[in-house]
Amino acid sequence: MKGDTKNLGFSTRAIHAGQAPDPTTGSVTVPIYQTSTYIHEELGVHKGYEYARVQNPTREALQDNIADLEGGIAGHAFASGMSAIATLLTTVKTGEHVVCSQNVYGGTYRFFHHILERYGLSFSWVNSPDLGEIERAMTPKTRLVYIETPTNPMIEVTDIAGAARIAHSHGAKLAVDNTFMSPYFQRPLEHDADFVIHSTTKFLNGHSDSIGGALVAKSADDAEWFSFVQKSEGAILSPFDSFLVLRGIKTLGVRMDRHEINARAVADLLKRHPKVRSVLYPGLADHPGHDLQKRQASGFGALIAFDLGSEDAARSFLNRLQVLSLAESLGGVETLISHPASMTHASVPVERQAKLGITRGMIRVSVGIEDLNDLLADLDRALSVA
Ligand SMILES: Cc1ncc(COP(=O)(O)O)c(C=O)c1O
Repeated sequence: MKGDTKNLGFSTRAIHAGQAPDPTTGSVTVPIYQTSTYIHEELGVHKGYEYARVQNPTREALQDNIADLEGGIAGHAFASGMSAIATLLTTVKTGEHVVCSQNVYGGTYRFFHHILERYGLSFSWVNSPDLGEIERAMTPKTRLVYIETPTNPMIEVTDIAGAARIAHSHGAKLAVDNTFMSPYFQRPLEHDADFVIHSTTKFLNGHSDSIGGALVAKSADDAEWFSFVQKSEGAILSPFDSFLVLRGIKTLGVRMDRHEINARAVADLLKRHPKVRSVLYPGLADHPGHDLQKRQASGFGALIAFDLGSEDAARSFLNRLQVLSLAESLGGVETLISHPASMTHASVPVERQAKLGITRGMIRVSVGIEDLNDLLADLDRALSVA
């Protein structure tokens, strides 16, 4: 694409931003530059590419594309969502403090609590939808407020602009894991966040065939630091995975629209079903975060949690599904359903699970883009025998 993308719509940018036709052939699709190094024409003369841990055109196209969609100054792509998070946390030093949503992804909790605390970083775990809890946890040593919204799997919504106000008034920065919403529905930097994280493994790639992560910064200083860490730590996204995620993003808008249409219908079915004790979906008018979600995002997404009352009921329901796939992860074209207590959140101690509200009967579903009638029929059949 030639020129500035500023005035273009989301899907036009998703398809074109960062993706100039290949200079050698004019290839419309960014090629997979599967190389580890680049030739120097003569000593000291090269095309700006020296070694592929540091520069790779396929990865750069993806990084520019995600930065454009999130409205950041630069993006960096990593080998996983966790390595994007690890890079972000290099902005916090020994003796400094982070205020973190208590309901973050289990792997994020494991990394912060079991690894970073060994290096002298400290964490306060707060119920972030209550901004008062964030405010009370702030200390003179707090450098970062870290939230997911909506959270996983309790589907709680945090006020991004409110959290940014608190962080900034204490000289700290705000990071938002935007994996669940994707920039199609929610752009945290527009609400004053400083960093956006993605597990590109999920909706951005969208096809359950790549593990990756991205980190988008708002300031040039932060972006420069992340480039330095990326080349030093080396947890880069491969050229092939960069290609896959770029390709996935081209259909992000149409996929997210369909995910949401299906999710709303699944949430309605679950809500009406006598065997379902409770349903958490921000698109339901009685969800406590419904109005806030409408204000800060343009959609409600595809993640739903519901409770069948006991692990036995959850097991017999899950074992009878035929179209929905029992698997960890989320954000793929296929509907993925899981039991957080024993799968995604197994690394969270049982007492902590109970405190967070993760029950043994809880099920999380990431609604895919299959034919809705097939999803509803499968759910109904499995619920009837649960
Ligand atoms: C919200 C969220 N953030 C981060 C991650 C970590 O991403 P990855 O599995 O790509 O390392 C996950 C993984 O499930 C996630 O759900």
